[in-house]
Amino acid sequence: MRVVKAFARQEYEIDRFEVENHKKLKQGNYLIFLNGVFWPITDILCGIQMLVGFYLGARMAVAGTISVGDFLVYSGLVIQLIWPIRNLGRLVAQMSTGFVSLQRVQQIIRQEREPLDDGRHETTDRLQGEVIFDHVYFAYETPASPAEQAQAIATNGNTPLQQSNGHGVSSDSGLHILASLDREYVLQDINLRVSPGRVVGLLGATGSGKTSLVNLLPRFYDYTEGRILVDGVDLRDYKRSYLRSQIGIVQQEPFLFSTTIRNNITYGLGRDVSDEEVEAAARAAAVHDVITSFPKGYETMVGERGVTLSGGQKQRVTIARSLLKDPSILILDDATSSVDTETDAEIRGALRNLMKDRTTFIIAHRVQSVMEADVIVVMDRGKIVQMGTHYELLNQPGIYRRVYDLQARIEAELEQEIADAVHRADAKLETKQNGQGGAAEKV
Ligand SMILES: Nc1ncnc2c1ncn2[C@@H]1O[C@H](COP(=O)(O)OP(=O)(O)OP(=O)(O)O)[C@@H](O)[C@H]1O
Ligand SMILES: [Mg+2]
Repeated sequence: MRVVKAFARQEYEIDRFEVENHKKLKQGNYLIFLNGVFWPITDILCGIQMLVGFYLGARMAVAGTISVGDFLVYSGLVIQLIWPIRNLGRLVAQMSTGFVSLQRVQQIIRQEREPLDDGRHETTDRLQGEVIFDHVYFAYETPASPAEQAQAIATNGNTPLQQSNGHGVSSDSGLHILASLDREYVLQDINLRVSPGRVVGLLGATGSGKTSLVNLLPRFYDYTEGRILVDGVDLRDYKRSYLRSQIGIVQQEPFLFSTTIRNNITYGLGRDVSDEEVEAAARAAAVHDVITSFPKGYETMVGERGVTLSGGQKQRVTIARSLLKDPSILILDDATSSVDTETDAEIRGALRNLMKDRTTFIIAHRVQSVMEADVIVVMDRGKIVQMGTHYELLNQPGIYRRVYDLQARIEAELEQEIADAVHRADAKLETKQNGQGGAAEKV
């Protein structure tokens, strides 16, 4: 736990949360201020208006320009009309917030379905698993505001990105400049060559772009510049559905559906699986014994209406799922950091089974999780800053050695603490026993 804490995951998240919260607080305060100023002012204006009307009407009635009856009718109408009109004002204000919500809902409803079969490369063979990143740049699209979209459509269908600079530049280099102005690259100039079956360890501070890098492979996002080749073919030429059938992902937060354990293991396979296969996968994932300890075994429901599995158990169920899927490329995104050390060892064993003969990307915060990789890639702010084996990286100054030293120190301290505690407990026990034996000697 201390190791996890030492890498400031929580602090980073808490900081981000606080910044967002503070922004919201400031905007909320401003809104209350505006509301507090606007409505009283309009109330006062209304009052003044009525008062002036009554005063002038009364004077006219007294002077005989209008009859007293006219004056009374006038006052009555004003009183009856003014509040509905004021409410109309409130209604318009409320409607505008309603419209904003409506737009958001529409944005989701109109969200285009991701095209799953748009690649030109026809294949159903198993991938070998060679992956090459060649000067890859990537930025997340910042969603354009509805106004920007409308403007973009009005001006002959240019994207908001091209539009926002207003020069109509559309050459590659122009786009490059615009892109760098308008959005931030989370990956910059990534070059990496991975042979089939090799293990790549990705290490780096939180936010350095590790997840973004591996998410490019199943085409959750398409890279912005450069190219990625898988088995020599440009990634964009593969159908998304094919890539996803060949790539297995085990995430930090394992996700299970509210159905039976068996269904969870066989989820999304698209073929029939025998019970033996399911069991073999569960054994390899070190979760078979856990499952058979439930009265209903593999037919046990998980989730709200069934048993609650621990984080480590869920993790191993998802590993069993990936084993059955038998992908050529495997992505382990921080798959061991959220579980305690005991299950950590079991998961490690299960993962080792899973990684056999697959090109594997292991993302981790701990050196220990990646040190056996064939090549370790150290990332910092979207760039690869170091690359090599554990020993190569240990022998050069840089982030890797610093992180290694820090983690080794923390672990040593922790071990020392545990040893001390055990020692103290032993000593206590000994004096107690001595006391009972009558020979109360001080050691
Ligand atoms: N869906 C997204 N849209 C926009 N920006 C994103 C998105 N996901 C991540 N980012 C940004 O991209 C950068 C890299 O994030 P990424 O998740 O790849 O980091 P990471 O190295 O995986 O971090 P962690 O160790 O915390 O998992 C961060 O600045 C993050 O804020
Ligand atoms: Mg990540």
